Amino acid sequence: MHPAFASPADSIPITFVTKSTLDSALAALPPVADQFAKASGFAGKPGQHLGLPDAKGALTQVLFGIEEKDAAWHDPFQPGQLPGLLPAGIYRFANAPHDARLATLAFALGSYKFGRYRKIEPSRARLVLPHGIDAIEISRTAEAAFLARDLINTPSNDMGPDELAGAAKALADKFGAQYSTIVGDDLLKRNFPLIHAVGRASARAPRLIDFTWGNASHPKVTLVGKGVCFDTGGLDLKPSSGMLIMKKDMGGAANVLALAHMIMSAQLKVRLRVLIPAVENSVAGNAFRPLDIFPSRKGVTVEIGNTDAEGRLVLADALALADEEKPDLLVDLGTLTGAARVALGPDLPPFYTNDDMLADEVEIYARSENDPLWRMPLWPPYDSWLDSKVANLNNAPAGTFAGSITCALFLQRFVEHAKSWLHVDIYGWTPTAKPGRPEGGECQAARAVYKLLSARYG
Ligand code: BES
Ligand code: MN
Ligand code: ZN
Repeated sequence: MHPAFASPADSIPITFVTKSTLDSALAALPPVADQFAKASGFAGKPGQHLGLPDAKGALTQVLFGIEEKDAAWHDPFQPGQLPGLLPAGIYRFANAPHDARLATLAFALGSYKFGRYRKIEPSRARLVLPHGIDAIEISRTAEAAFLARDLINTPSNDMGPDELAGAAKALADKFGAQYSTIVGDDLLKRNFPLIHAVGRASARAPRLIDFTWGNASHPKVTLVGKGVCFDTGGLDLKPSSGMLIMKKDMGGAANVLALAHMIMSAQLKVRLRVLIPAVENSVAGNAFRPLDIFPSRKGVTVEIGNTDAEGRLVLADALALADEEKPDLLVDLGTLTGAARVALGPDLPPFYTNDDMLADEVEIYARSENDPLWRMPLWPPYDSWLDSKVANLNNAPAGTFAGSITCALFLQRFVEHAKSWLHVDIYGWTPTAKPGRPEGGECQAARAVYKLLSARYG
C-alpha cells in the first residue's frame, strides 16, 4: 500500500464542508467546537481548513472547505492540499467529498516531495482508505505518478541518456520484460539516422531504449516517449529563459515509463512495447546544423529547418520502428512544442488521432481520471507546410502558426501501418503548485491512457 495510506485505528475525521452545508456541519458539532469554528472565522471556503480540539486540547476533528458540487467548476483534487496542511496523524473522510476516489488519489499525489538532494520532512498525515476504494489500484497510480515526477525533477547532470536507460531497465527488470538498447554509432549501423543526428553532439551517447513485455498473442500496444534529457535547442540555441526548465524535456519518456509501470503492474492483457529515444540536444563542433539533410529510418529525407525542433526527429525514427510491427495501438507522448502551451496552457495537453472512437475514449478517461486532455486536429490542409524545396520533408515549417498541429502532422508521416495512433503533446510540468500537484515534474496523459487500456484490455 502507498505510504500515504493507513489502516483504521483511532483516526481523526475530516469533514468536507461547502458554503451551503456549513451551517448544518457546525450545528452537528459539540457547542464548544461550534463556537471555536465561528470564532476562528471558518467559512468553508474551498481549500480552507480548521482543526478542532477536544476538551483536553487534542485534535479530534478537521473541517475542510470544498467547492459546491454544482459550481461552474470544482477541482476534484482539492483534498490533495490536506497532506500539506495537516499535522502528523491518521485521518479518515467523515463524509464523501464530490469524488471519493479522486480525492483519495489526490491525497496521495499531494504528499509527494522531491527529496533526492536534501533531507525532506515527509508528510506524516496518512489517510484511512474510504470504503469501496481499490487500494492496490490507487497505490499503483500514485507510484506511477511519483516515478514520472522523480525522473523529470532529477536534473540533467544526473538524468542523461544513460541514467534514463537505467531507469527504464530497472522497470523492465522489475516486471520481467525483455530489454535492449542501441547506443551511439550503432544507431547509424541499425538505421536510426535522426536519433543519431540529434544526439551526436553530446558527450553522453544517444541511444534507443526498447523493451517488450507480456504475452505475444495479446494485442500489441506500443508506447513511444520523447527522451530529450536536456534541450539547449542545439545550434538554434534557446535563450536562457526558454532553456531554464529543459531538464523536463524527457517528460514524454518519464510518462511512458509511468504508464508502462501501471500496465505491467495491473497485468493488462497486452503485448507491451516501450521505445524511448534518449538523447541530449547539445552544442558542439559536431552538432547537426540548420539546413542539414538526413535520411530517416522510414526512408524519407528530412531537411533541418530548426535544430530546436529535435523532439519530432527522434520520435520519427522511433515511431517508424514501432510502426514496422503493425501495432494495434501506437501511443507517443512528448514535450514537443511551446505552441501547445500557447494554445491550451500547461495543464491541458492537446492530443491527436484520426481514430474517432479512440478520441472519444480518451476524452472519457481524461475526464474521469482528472487528467485533462483536449483533442486538436491533424488538419490535412496544413500538411503541405512540411514541404521542403530540396528534401522530402522539413522539420520546422517557416512561420509560427499552428505549431503543435504541424508537429503532429510531421509525426504522422512516420506512422503508416499501426491500426490506431495517438499522439499527446504534453508539458510534463506544473509551473505553480495546485492541489495534488506540487510544483515541478508532472504525470500527464499516463493515467487517462492507462484507464483507457485497462477498460479495453483489463
Ligand atoms: N522541448 C521543446 C518544446 C517546449 C518548449 C516544450 C517549452 C515546453 C516548453 C521543443 O523541442 C522545441 O524546442 N520546440 C520548438 C519547435 C520550433 C523550433 C518549431 C518550439 O516549440 O519552439
Ligand atoms: Mn527543442
Ligand atoms: Zn525539445
